Amino acid sequence: MNLFHDSIALAVLAPAKVNWYLELLGKRDDGFHQIETFMSTVSLYDTLSFTLRDDDRLALTVKYEHAEEVGSVPDGPSNLVLKAAEAVRAVCPSNVAQRGVDIVLHKRIPSAAGLGGASSDAAATIKGLNVLWKAALDMRQMHDIAAELGSDVPFFLTGGTAFCEGRGELISPINAPSSHWLVIGKPPTGLSTPHVFSRVSLADSPPVSRLQETSAEFGLRLVDGRVTATGRLLFNRLQRFALPMNEEVAEVRKEFQLLQEMGRCSGHQLSGSGSSYFGLFRSKRLATNSAVRLRGRMPGFRFYCCHTTGAVDTSCGATAV
Ligand code: C5P
Repeated sequence: MNLFHDSIALAVLAPAKVNWYLELLGKRDDGFHQIETFMSTVSLYDTLSFTLRDDDRLALTVKYEHAEEVGSVPDGPSNLVLKAAEAVRAVCPSNVAQRGVDIVLHKRIPSAAGLGGASSDAAATIKGLNVLWKAALDMRQMHDIAAELGSDVPFFLTGGTAFCEGRGELISPINAPSSHWLVIGKPPTGLSTPHVFSRVSLADSPPVSRLQETSAEFGLRLVDGRVTATGRLLFNRLQRFALPMNEEVAEVRKEFQLLQEMGRCSGHQLSGSGSSYFGLFRSKRLATNSAVRLRGRMPGFRFYCCHTTGAVDTSCGATAV
């Protein structure tokens, strides 16, 4: 998983995710929603590199793949990467953690897209600094730091496919052997997660027993890797609240619906709180050809052709020396 590692520098990949199934069970006393979701990491990555400094400063530089994204994430202390670094340092017994780090974050995952980019960057930072600073944090300690930073951050410590409950921070990994091909469409404008959640009304939610049946069925389909059945079951409770908030999502949805009617796409829906919208495909060829068509028909939107990825260990593939 790491690209490069020696005693003073390390690079880590931070994948995006999609939600196959996302149900809201209710609103909690802490203001969050109780959720059930199946998620998978996908082959669209940010990259983070960490290099020890001679002083104690934590310095973040953000570089962008796409000019229109420039400035879309903060490069100051409110960035989740710097918060993660401070949180690891606070529990790190090693003297090495007193050394500062130059962090370069190369952003490819679009922001405000429901793809978990900021959460994945935070998880990559926890894993990367755990190795670089020889912090020797175990999975439980990393999970606790991750859950403090955001609901999706713990999932990204190992990624792969998982069933996530609670706020999203309670993770049950799923052994999903096959990798699925996707096209993710990103409209020119994004959607803010708190804003979408603030529009949620759960008055007409189905009873919990039906939800449990659906999510159990979904887990089985992911395990047996059947794309058509998975496509039929795709569900995201947030979609109906997000769609009226951004008409570009409705436009891209229409295009994926056309592809489904042409027999090319096996299912499509919003990822997380949007604004990204993805389609599931039976083969790489169908996904690649569909992405070409979508790019031609929707200028200004970005389309990423990618596949789901497996879980990784938390050592970044590196051994501290
Ligand atoms: O945990 P995270 O910082 O990613 O959450 C961002 C916002 O999304 C929260 O402030 C909350 O408004 C909403 N949220 C929620 N229920 C969840 C996860 C997120 O209401 N389970």
